[in-house]
Amino acid sequence: MTIRKLIAGNWKMNGSLGMLHELDGIAKATFNHPELDVVICPSFTLIAPAIVRQPDMTFGAQDCHYDESGSHTGCVSAPMLREVGASYVIVGHSERRIEQNETNEEIRAKTTTAIANGLVTIVCIGESRAAHASGQALPIIGAQLDGCIPPDATSDNLVVAYEPIWAIGTGNTPPPESIAEMHASIRDRLCLLLGSEGKKVRILYGGSVTGKNAEELMAIPDVNGTLVGGASLTAEQFVPIIEAGG
Ligand code: G3H
Repeated sequence: MTIRKLIAGNWKMNGSLGMLHELDGIAKATFNHPELDVVICPSFTLIAPAIVRQPDMTFGAQDCHYDESGSHTGCVSAPMLREVGASYVIVGHSERRIEQNETNEEIRAKTTTAIANGLVTIVCIGESRAAHASGQALPIIGAQLDGCIPPDATSDNLVVAYEPIWAIGTGNTPPPESIAEMHASIRDRLCLLLGSEGKKVRILYGGSVTGKNAEELMAIPDVNGTLVGGASLTAEQFVPIIEAGG
């Protein structure tokens, strides 16, 4: 089965209006690869200006609330994201699980609301360095999937990103055989949770993806794209990753 690859850029709390010119080169590479999906997830404040700069590109957000509206000061809802033109949203990133104490239950609620509002939802999972070292990675990933994935999600509205926390921003990636083992296990779990849809859900790898290692990473079975942090901030670094996916 051929699964369409997704190359996602997560700008995290980086970027500015003055940086949006980077989108021009990223857009050019994206349009040269119609066989791929490419999405950039900037900060909330940059989504609308990014769409003005590159109206034919696809943009997403880095979080949303599980309620559609209400008394949640400082939060942004899925309908607000749709209204402004976002098509994707990342939920459950390890930085939010750690800094905002997000639980699997909250992430599942966010996923349900995001999907109900037409956002393709990238659910992040991944184990800590300690869990990896003690051989607990597989059970932790399994529990995250069980806790975060709504039973009616489909391959059209759900993407899973496997990001070992110990690989994020470190310049180190796990060995290919370790990534293959984790992605195979995620695939099996998705099939258990979602039946035949689970076979088609895209599973991204994230954590120190660069133009140098992207091709090798995306050649690993069940790696259907990448979630890129630091190397998504400039066209110079991100375009080679798009090229590697094509
Ligand atoms: O969401 C992206 C990941 O946290 C990976 O970040 O590519 O800077 O390691 P990184």
